[in-house]
Amino acid sequence: MFFRWILLVVSLTNFLWDFYVSSCDENCADKPEFTPSILVVKFGDPTSASCSACQHDCIGHIFKIESNSGKTETSGTMITWMVNRLTEWDASPLCYYTIPQAQCCTTLPVTVYKPPDNVSISFDNHIGPMFEGHQYTLQCTVEEVAPIENLTVTFYKGQTTLGQLHSENITEKKPVTETFTLDITPSKEDDGAQYWCEAKLELGPAGPQPPPVVKSQKIPVTVYYEPQIESSPAHTITITEGDPLQLNCSAVGNPSPSYTWTLPSTHSSSLNSSIFTIDSVTAADEGPYNCSVSNIMGNVTVRFRVVVQGLTTTTLPTTTTTTATTAATTTTPKPTTTPNSATTSSALLHRFIMCFMLLFSTLGTLTQLAAHRLNNRVFVTFNFESQSLWPSLDSTVCITVHLVRLQDPPETMLSYRIFVVLSLNILRDLSMSVTGCDENCADKPEFTPSILVVKFGDSTSASCSACQHDCIGHIFKIESNSGKTETSGTMITWTVDRLTEWDASPLCYYTIPQAQCCTTLPVTVYKPPDNVSISFDNHTGPVFEGHQYTLQCTVEEIAPIENLTVTFYKGQTTLGQLHSENITEKKPVTETFTLDITPSKEDDGAQYWCEAKLELGPAGPQPPPVVKSQKIPVTVHYKPQIESLPPDEITITEGNPLQLNCSAVGKPSPSYTWKLPLDSPSPSNSSVLTISSVTFADEGLYTCTVSNSRGTVTVKFNVDVQVNMGIITAVIIGVFVLVMTVLSLLVYFYCYKPSRVGQYNLKDVFRLHARHSTVPCAE
Ligand SMILES: *[C@@H]1O[C@H](CO)[C@@H](O)[C@H](O)[C@H]1NC(C)=O
Ligand SMILES: *[C@@H]1O[C@H](CO)[C@@H](O)[C@H](O)[C@H]1NC(C)=O
Ligand SMILES: *[C@@H]1O[C@H](CO)[C@@H](O)[C@H](O)[C@H]1NC(C)=O
Ligand SMILES: *[C@@H]1O[C@H](CO)[C@@H](O)[C@H](O)[C@H]1NC(C)=O
Ligand SMILES: *[C@@H]1O[C@H](CO)[C@@H](O)[C@H](O)[C@H]1NC(C)=O
Repeated sequence: MFFRWILLVVSLTNFLWDFYVSSCDENCADKPEFTPSILVVKFGDPTSASCSACQHDCIGHIFKIESNSGKTETSGTMITWMVNRLTEWDASPLCYYTIPQAQCCTTLPVTVYKPPDNVSISFDNHIGPMFEGHQYTLQCTVEEVAPIENLTVTFYKGQTTLGQLHSENITEKKPVTETFTLDITPSKEDDGAQYWCEAKLELGPAGPQPPPVVKSQKIPVTVYYEPQIESSPAHTITITEGDPLQLNCSAVGNPSPSYTWTLPSTHSSSLNSSIFTIDSVTAADEGPYNCSVSNIMGNVTVRFRVVVQGLTTTTLPTTTTTTATTAATTTTPKPTTTPNSATTSSALLHRFIMCFMLLFSTLGTLTQLAAHRLNNRVFVTFNFESQSLWPSLDSTVCITVHLVRLQDPPETMLSYRIFVVLSLNILRDLSMSVTGCDENCADKPEFTPSILVVKFGDSTSASCSACQHDCIGHIFKIESNSGKTETSGTMITWTVDRLTEWDASPLCYYTIPQAQCCTTLPVTVYKPPDNVSISFDNHTGPVFEGHQYTLQCTVEEIAPIENLTVTFYKGQTTLGQLHSENITEKKPVTETFTLDITPSKEDDGAQYWCEAKLELGPAGPQPPPVVKSQKIPVTVHYKPQIESLPPDEITITEGNPLQLNCSAVGKPSPSYTWKLPLDSPSPSNSSVLTISSVTFADEGLYTCTVSNSRGTVTVKFNVDVQVNMGIITAVIIGVFVLVMTVLSLLVYFYCYKPSRVGQYNLKDVFRLHARHSTVPCAE
């Protein structure tokens, strides 16, 4: 009997074993508990965990750990699971107990990991240097890693992360080999960079810390790219004869670029260097220099244009068109001149000019020097002034010398020709004294006041203290084209009764043997404008909103226009201030100033005007003279605008008055047209449509069209007519009263009549109703 009971338990256990796998309850209240609750174990390492099967439910029942590896030991309700060497990839032990009603279990999750045997990086289907801008595929192969679900592969370029990848195969627990790919498009900055990848097993907090990482080898890459010029050079280089010339077209490129120079035809050599040098340039070195930089990826050409200046100049030589002509001729071979002979000839010319200038400088002052080329000739020009050359004339002699050399001489140096062209100017008396006097001398004349602002035709005066001491015993004077002067000591007074010259600046000066010293009194002669008027340019009548119009303000006969400010106004608002560009004219001029305006509807009825003001500074009249134009009112025409929009739907009860309002503003005043439901004729041509009592026939869409000459807008009213509830209520009440009356009559008739049979007939009931109605029916 006992034996049979044991057998029963064993067979029951076996049955439950098969059963638990598919259906044991992992959510029971008193469930087994593993310590630790999670295991991360490297493949082949030992591991262990213990399970507290239950607190009370399993006591006296069967409890156990089931696993495909290791062994278990039980002590009380505590079961310990131990593996000396974990070699199963799927080794999650199950701890459970069985009680008659149910089975209760817990699985210990065990992650068995294995870092990859090897990680390697390579290019997919490519070896050798890469080309800039092309796409390549990097591949990272991770060998025999488990579980692949926890693997992160990172691609790097040097220290820069390029991308992180994960496997899509997240169910495989056994080791797998997988290749991850990343597309790259190298740029020239990537030349020399090293690419590599890294495989990391991220196993969470229960896993090894830091997570196992295996890195690939590093593969250096070479990126080929076309040459790029390092700095953009000045393309036209102006250089003086004899100076060294260095042209630099350094470029970066991979492979290293080679350089080819194309020189002006006299030099045929081409050299392979980024720098081109000439120790001492000559005129023959002038021309275009092209530097062509190339490698297998492409080429670029840098063009230099070298302009050789023959001589020291005080003014910049010539126009570029001249240089271009010269440059163009250098593309064909020149006769026989060698660089050496060119240098010699130029030096000779130099020397000749120096001698010539030296000769003149003993006689007077050299004032200006310039050299330029024209049509293959060199012109050297200098001005020379002398007061002593012809002293008897009491004047200055001005000589201009032109030296002309043929730039491309035929064969020999002897045929260089030098033309000397002398132009002689004798600057006579007063005008000379005016232009040539020194305004910066120490003891210079002083005017009181130092500045004059005079209205044309007014009287004015000023006095000049000619000097403190320098002029005493010499000539001193005021020169002017108007007025008269009076001298008392070194004080000269200049008086004009009526100033009628527009350019009346008197000059106060004295002359001593060595020099002439002078001061000019600046006199501003002004005249307020005769008239200022405003108008529209090429437009009359109303203006249209949003269109552009030009206002013009004409200021007549004003002087000096330099000091004029024209302001445009709209009402009291300043629209703009303008000045003339003609700032040299001293005499009265008439000028028209224009301003573009784009009126809006708010500008309707505004007044435009302009004002001319002469701002003559603190020495001028205060306040400054102002002349205003007339005001021109404008009418702005604009399209109708609805003042307030109607609601989406207008609900109105039958019988009520209806008022639809589509009032709009617009200029000219808009006209209104109404379109009614059922296309009935328009009852009104006004902005408001009124129906004194609506019926259902009035329901529908009303369209109001508002238009004027500038445009049209339409407004839609959607009118919904509702049944009048008041009438319905009255009808219902009426019917109710009627029904009640009939009912009470019927009741009266049938109840009352039988109890009074013989006494009343129906006719009497109605007749005697007032007296007998209170008699209860039951009586
Ligand atoms: C030429 O130009 C490059 C780039 O601007 C510069 O690095 C180099 O020093 C220059 N070479 C010379 C000789 O000036
Ligand atoms: C120019 O020089 C570069 C670098 O020095 C070299 O690689 C290239 O072959 C040379 N090219 C020629 C045409 O000599
Ligand atoms: C004036 O305006 C009309 C059209 O608006 C144009 O045809 C004409 O050329 C304009 N005249 C001037 C002087 O601008
Ligand atoms: C119509 O609407 C305009 C603007 O909302 C209002 O000024 C005007 O008094 C209205 N007219 C009537 C008759 O209600
Ligand atoms: C409204 O104006 C239109 C066109 O201007 C005209 O045909 C129509 O007779 C007018 N209606 C009324 C009611 O004045």
